[in-house]
Amino acid sequence: MFEKEIYADRRRRLLAIMKDSASEGKRGIAVFPGNADAPQNYRGNDYKFRQESSFLYFWGIDEPRFAAILDLDSGEEMLYGDDVDIDDIIWMGPQPSVASKGESVGVSATAPYNAFAEAVRKAAASGRPVHFLPTSRYYNTMLLSVLLGCPAENVRKTADVYTSGEICASLGLTKAVISLRLIKEACEIEEIDKACEIGYLMHTAARKACRPGVKEQDIVGIMEGVTISKGWGVSFTTILSQNGETLHNHSHHQTITPGRMLLIDAGAESNTHYASDFTRTLPCSGKFTPKQKDIYNIVEECNELAYRLAAPGIPYREVHLAVAARMLDGLKGLGLVSGHIDDMVNEGIAGLFMPHGLGHNMGIDVHDMEDLGENLVGYDDDQTRASQLGLGSLRMARRLKPGHVITDEPGIYFIPALISKWKAEGTDRGMVNYAAVEKYLDFGGIRLEDDLLVTEDGCRRLGPHRLPIKAEDVEAAMS
Ligand code: GLY
Ligand code: MN
Repeated sequence: MFEKEIYADRRRRLLAIMKDSASEGKRGIAVFPGNADAPQNYRGNDYKFRQESSFLYFWGIDEPRFAAILDLDSGEEMLYGDDVDIDDIIWMGPQPSVASKGESVGVSATAPYNAFAEAVRKAAASGRPVHFLPTSRYYNTMLLSVLLGCPAENVRKTADVYTSGEICASLGLTKAVISLRLIKEACEIEEIDKACEIGYLMHTAARKACRPGVKEQDIVGIMEGVTISKGWGVSFTTILSQNGETLHNHSHHQTITPGRMLLIDAGAESNTHYASDFTRTLPCSGKFTPKQKDIYNIVEECNELAYRLAAPGIPYREVHLAVAARMLDGLKGLGLVSGHIDDMVNEGIAGLFMPHGLGHNMGIDVHDMEDLGENLVGYDDDQTRASQLGLGSLRMARRLKPGHVITDEPGIYFIPALISKWKAEGTDRGMVNYAAVEKYLDFGGIRLEDDLLVTEDGCRRLGPHRLPIKAEDVEAAMS
């Protein structure tokens, strides 16, 4: 948890933005339900608790069954939560009072948890606009749906609460929260650096464990152990597979085999829930084959290019397209594609090899704020999302600003089903040399990912240490 002034200042800034949303007396309230415990199977055997990220950002309390309301007319704040009773003390031990928890985040007014529901109902019944963020958990979706009498799907979509005519998540509140959370404060960057150090340690442990005969699952266990011993745990389900061409491969049943490559995309949360996200692709026998190294070097150059281009003012969409051009140039050198680079970029040929975007925002969530709407988070108002494979999956296209934290994660994959689909449908317009590409059908995939902080004059890689990335450095580290 940060100093209480951090949270109070965030709420002050949010209030200042929301004051422009309507004239005084008509603005209504902003409601923030924190997360409740979620049972894995029966009540009493819950998933490990993870607080709702915007609640954590503005109200700081990392415990279940808290909620808060910010009155956008009066500026009053109220924190809702229950003091423990003797039953709770028997099972959980003594706990600080809700009042003292409120005090620790700069909130002086508190009330029992159930009073939150009453306050929301009362505001809605009296015609006051109720602003809320799109929810990610079903519990809060159902809670708001019941309290406000709107369909559950409306709780997850955003609209202007003053004009939409139906009750939905508040577009104004959502945009205000995004504008604040996108620009990371110094205390947040410190936490992300810590998460990146844990990410460095987990990937280092994985690299040391990666040798023929070891089970992929063993390496996952070693990596995830690091995250629990050094921080809160993983920032997303670990992706680790020798079938790296499957972008989010969570099956770890194979044995490390000489001659293959192991793609590891994994990150950690610091104890305060800031994320890291790194990908490295390792040669299972310690050395890349010449064929692997050719593709690896193209991906590594793309990663470096994005790092060199990322700076205030440049849209990350343009960095994605520059990376696509560099990738196609490299693949052309290997005879896998042919044509003018600009034509290939325009036709989206890079999407066959990299069907995902160059990167995403990162912060309290590894894909920061995607619960609030991918396009609202990742696109400026004057940008529209493409439909092309690859560019269409770009989650962060915005003009970069100092304080943005983004990932730089190019990859090249040979996905047999996608290659045969493009071939059958002529999607490549004659620019893909299938005879050459089909020699890579058992190649797998390579992705290389670092986390970047946009600074005043460029960017810096987050974390105190960088994982080896040059092919020869990876081989040296594995020897
Ligand atoms: N690290 C997983 C992803 O960015 O989708
Ligand atoms: Mn990522």
